[in-house]
Amino acid sequence: MRIAMIGTGYVGLVSGACFADFGHDVICVDKNERKIAALHRGEIPIYEPGLDELVATNVKAKRLEFTTDLSKPVADADAVFIAVGTPSRRGDGHADLSYVYAAAKEIAQSLSGFTVVVTKSTVPVGTGDEVERIIRETNPKAEMVVASNPEFLREGAAIRDFKFPDRIVVGTSDERGRKVMSDIYRPLSLNQAPLMFTERGSGPR
Ligand SMILES: NC(=O)c1ccc[n+]([C@@H]2O[C@H](COP(=O)([O-])OP(=O)(O)OC[C@H]3O[C@@H](n4cnc5c(N)ncnc54)[C@H](O)[C@@H]3O)[C@@H](O)[C@H]2O)c1
Repeated sequence: MRIAMIGTGYVGLVSGACFADFGHDVICVDKNERKIAALHRGEIPIYEPGLDELVATNVKAKRLEFTTDLSKPVADADAVFIAVGTPSRRGDGHADLSYVYAAAKEIAQSLSGFTVVVTKSTVPVGTGDEVERIIRETNPKAEMVVASNPEFLREGAAIRDFKFPDRIVVGTSDERGRKVMSDIYRPLSLNQAPLMFTERGSGPR
């Protein structure tokens, strides 16, 4: 599978490196030019045991790349993961979803062919509806489904948590979307981790 990971922070870098290690072709995208330049030099911007080796091995095998430009990776992808930050808003403490929505708008402009757009960032129920609305409004011809796939990794044990989860939860009712997500996570389901499909979940109506 071809995967574009939008946001190469803790979650994006660990997930991208692990997906590449499963054998997928992964391009990790980040707006932060310094971060991408460091990754091109083989420097890992976060402390996570084993991540430097995992990244180096998969870069060498040409399954893992880094870029600041999402257009080609998104156009070529079977699945685009949104793994940007969702910081707590000052005052009410709610998740600030502005980076997620900005990423959705940028992704929409480059989609080509059937693509699953996956929210991996931690977002409230109903965010997938808004991501889908933004993509449809920006690019009405896009052939895509929006799925939810929350990440539960812990910093410091992130690779282990990603590779040996007790379950993987994917929210989408779309058959083609379920097939793409099953193919992406097949190495984990072979490892006995159940892949649990649910509805995506809608916000209050
Ligand atoms: N860190 C954790 O332990 C953890 C665990 C589970 C879930 N999460 C959730 O995962 C999400 C990401 O967390 P994180 O810790 O990886 O965040 P982070 O702040 O480390 O990284 C986010 C990255 O996204 C980049 N970015 C923002 N907008 C972009 C855009 N439009 N295009 C490309 N890049 C963009 C930023 O430059 C940054 O490098 C959050 O919702 C967080 O709550 C985090």
